[in-house]
Formats: sequence, structure tokens, C-alpha cells
Amino acid sequence: MSDADVLLGIETSCDETAAAVVARGVDVRSSVVSSQVDLHARFGGVVPEIASRAHVELLGPVVAEALVESGVGGEDLDAVAATVGPGLVGSLLVGLAAAKALALVWGVPFVGVNHLEAHLYASFIDEPALEPPMVALLVSGGHTLLVAVDDHGRYRLLGSTIDDAAGEAFDKVARFLGLGYPGGPAIDRTALTGDPTAIDFPRAMLDQGYDFSFSGLKTAVVTHVRRHPDVATDDVAASFQQAVVDVLVAKTLRAARHAGVSRVCIGGGVAANSLLRERLLDACAGEGFECFLPSRSMCTDNAAMVAAAGWWRLKNDGPTGLDAGAQPNLRLPVA
Ligand code: KG4
Ligand code: ZN
Repeated sequence: MSDADVLLGIETSCDETAAAVVARGVDVRSSVVSSQVDLHARFGGVVPEIASRAHVELLGPVVAEALVESGVGGEDLDAVAATVGPGLVGSLLVGLAAAKALALVWGVPFVGVNHLEAHLYASFIDEPALEPPMVALLVSGGHTLLVAVDDHGRYRLLGSTIDDAAGEAFDKVARFLGLGYPGGPAIDRTALTGDPTAIDFPRAMLDQGYDFSFSGLKTAVVTHVRRHPDVATDDVAASFQQAVVDVLVAKTLRAARHAGVSRVCIGGGVAANSLLRERLLDACAGEGFECFLPSRSMCTDNAAMVAAAGWWRLKNDGPTGLDAGAQPNLRLPVA
């Protein structure tokens, strides 16, 4: 294997402590994710101070497990990649400090990775044959972006949310419905028994452009439930989920048509949503588009995607300086 091919990836931007060993950006030798869900669940969301303390405790064992599982010793690695942002500053700092220290000890390059770009590279892991150009829908707890991927590292922003991110809407609605945290998987499960046509929730800006708005939908759910206290929770969950998915799918397909590409991929935690995956596949098939859906475990936060994006960045831009700091508000580098 040539230089800089086997990377250790580290991800600590939010509430998952993760490490992975990946070769050539596609061959996942190990991927360990330690979720802090139990620590944050009773607060109904991520508590930043608790998250960074937990990363400090968990990261050492998680990295050790990723190395043992991969069968690759630290001295055989070619580089160490870690998420530099966006995310919670205290959490990011833990992963960054560890990655730089390990890179120094092993005498290999350090690569700082943009978490949003990492979500995009999850598609390349599961579909090594995937090649730009394509349109990517990135839907996570903090972001909702429609991006034209002209080439590796060359992005054009087509649209984004003007208020809540899609995942944030899932989390807020789930909390209101008493379904717990994290809200996305809870709504996904609850919606299975509900009627998605029971309540006609608004589909904001459905026919306008590529931007999204989800805060009115969240308010519509709250208003409906307050007016109809006996409404079945699974019907509310299914109708809410249908409204979100209708907008995400319609805009993604329109963006692909507009960009003149026939490949669509998705990334981010909300890309694990069952209805979104099913509807996007159907809609793409109807248009003759190819649709790339990373496996669910590659959609939610993990370090394999960080190692994959790090491999591309290292090849294209070289190593990142060890003076690189955490960038909590980092954006996708778009043209
Ligand atoms: O990408 P991610 O793991 O972390 C961030 O970068 O934010 O995304 C987390 C988000 C949360 O809002 C969570 O509720 C949502 O992804 N999510 C889902 C599902 N699984 C996770 N949303 C809808 N359906 C799911 N199955
Ligand atoms: Zn994420």
C-alpha cells in the first residue's frame, strides 16, 4: 500500500465518541462509535459540558478498540484525521488534541476534517464506484444543505435551511410529543403505525427554490396537538415525517434536474430515516437518476467518514498544521 493510505479517523463534534481505521478512503478496517445518548437523554438534548467530559473519558478506549479491531498498529498508520468543526467547541477540542498528539507520537501527518464534508464522504465509503458530479442532500441535527458536488472538494451551495435544521425539527417535535431523545429515530419508529395522511401539515416553500424552512411545521404540530389533545401520537409522528420528507425529496430532485446531474446522494443523521430513504429511492428511480444511500450507521456520526474525507483532503491539500484550532461554526467550503 502506498504512502498515506491507512488513516485513523477521530470524531468528537457532538455526542458520539468515535474512532475508525480506513484504507484509501473506502476500506473500513474498523469503526467504533460510543454513543453518549444515555448521559444526555434525561436532559432531553445534548449538554455540552457533559459531552466534552465524556469524550475525555471515552476517547482513549475507543481509539484503542478501533486499532485492535483493525489489526493495524499505530506505527503502521499513515495519518491521523479528526473533525475540526462544525460542532461543540469543548467536544471538538478533545478529539483534536488527541489526534495531534497521536500524529506527533507516531510521526505521521495530521489532517483536520470538516464534519459536513465527512457526512458527504460516507457515500463514497459505501459506494466506491460513486463519482461526481452529483447533488448531495446533507441533513443532520445542525444542518440542512443541498449541494452540487462538481468534483471532489468542489461544492456549490444550492440551498439551506432558513431556520431549523431537519434533524432539529425531528428532535423538537419528538420532545414535544414525549417520545424522548434523540427524536429522529423515535419519530421514525412511532410513525410506522401512524397514518401519514391523517393531518395535512404545511410543506413550507415546497415550490420555491432550494431553501428549507421547518420551524413553521414544528409550530403547526404543537398547535394541532393543543387543539386536538386526543389525537393519536403515531398519526402526528407519521404526518409530520411525511411533510418533512415530501419537501426534502421534492427539492433534492428539482436541484438535480436544475444542476443537470443524474446522481443523488444523501448524508447526515436524518439520512437514516426510513421514509426519506424509501421515497428518495422511488423518486430517483422514477426520473432515471442513480440514488446513493449510505448504510444507516454511516449516516449518523461516525469516524469512518472522517477518515474517508481526511484521505481525500490529504491527497489534495496535504497535511493540516498542528496549530489548527477547533472551528465550531465551520461551513462547507462552497463556491
Ligand atoms: O449527523 P448526526 O448524527 O449529528 C449531527 O451532525 O448533527 O445527526 C443527528 C440528527 C438528530 O437530529 C437525529 O434526531 C437525526 O439526526 N436522526 C434521524 C434519524 N436518525 C437520526 N432523523 C430522522 N430519522 C432517523 N431515523
Ligand atoms: Zn453529524
